[in-house]
Parts: sequence; C-alpha cells; structure tokens
Amino acid sequence: MFSVEDCLIVNLPKIYSQSGTITVLENNSEVPFDVKRIYYLYDIPMGIERGGHAHYNLEQFIIAASGSFNFLLNDGKNKKEIFLNDPSKALHIKPGIWREIKDFSSGSICLVLASQEYSEEDYIRDYDEYLNNYAKS
Ligand code: TYD
Repeated sequence: MFSVEDCLIVNLPKIYSQSGTITVLENNSEVPFDVKRIYYLYDIPMGIERGGHAHYNLEQFIIAASGSFNFLLNDGKNKKEIFLNDPSKALHIKPGIWREIKDFSSGSICLVLASQEYSEEDYIRDYDEYLNNYAKS
C-alpha cells in the first residue's frame, strides 16, 4: 500500500536555448516505469472537477503542460493537495491513491504518462468502496 507521502514531485531536465526550452522524458530514466499510454485533458470548462477515483495498479506521471490545476491526493488516512503549474515538474502518483482534480486554469493542459493501457477494471470509482474495502485492507 502506498501513501500520499510516496507521491512526489519530480524535477524534469530542461534544455534551455534562446528559442525556448525542451523537457525530455525517457522510459525508466526520468519516468521510473515503462510508459504504455499517454493522454491529456484539455478544453476543460471553468469550475469543473475531475478524477474521483483510484487505480489498483496504475502509476502515473502528471504534468501541467500548460496552465495550472490542483491535485487532491488521498490514501484513506491522509490527504495532500498539490498545485501543478510548471511543465518541468511531474507529479508521480503511485497505485492505490484516490485523486480529485480541480481549479483548472483557462486553457490548461493536463498531460498524463501512464504505466498501463486503459482498463476500466483497474479503476475504483466508488469512494465508500475505496475507503472501506481497499484502503482499510
Ligand atoms: P477518467 O479516467 O474517469 O477521467 P478523469 O479522471 O480525468 O475524470 O476517464 C473519463 C472517461 O474516458 C471514462 O469513460 C473512460 C474514458 N477513458 C478511456 O477510454 N481511455 C483512457 O485512456 C482514459 C484515461 C479514459
């Protein structure tokens, strides 16, 4: 079982030049797992909250590719709020952490690198089930 304290911010490398900055991520290097899937959230209406689930096995690297948003992490005992607004930082979410995402700024893009292909069976979407069956076990 992982806790919210295991979900750390990772500083990513930056290649600077007068024409801008590049940040590069490679499997098993900057990203500590094999990336199997990439997706991103965008066109998010103001005031919307997303997430509201945990994953049994999935690990994710979350990057504010543009703009900003807040991640609320919860392991069933402790909670932690993490503000992301810097494309050179990634939030590493370990398996089994309940997350909610809110306060998306206008035009924000939430980039997600995931350790597994999409599988609905890997989701825990019911908070009571998460608290009573998963987080307590
Ligand atoms: P979900 O992960 O619940 O979104 P969020 O946590 O951002 O609120 O996914 C929303 C919907 O999109 C859900 O019906 C599943 C679908 N989906 C896919 O089909 N493939 C994917 O890779 C992802 C991330 C979601």
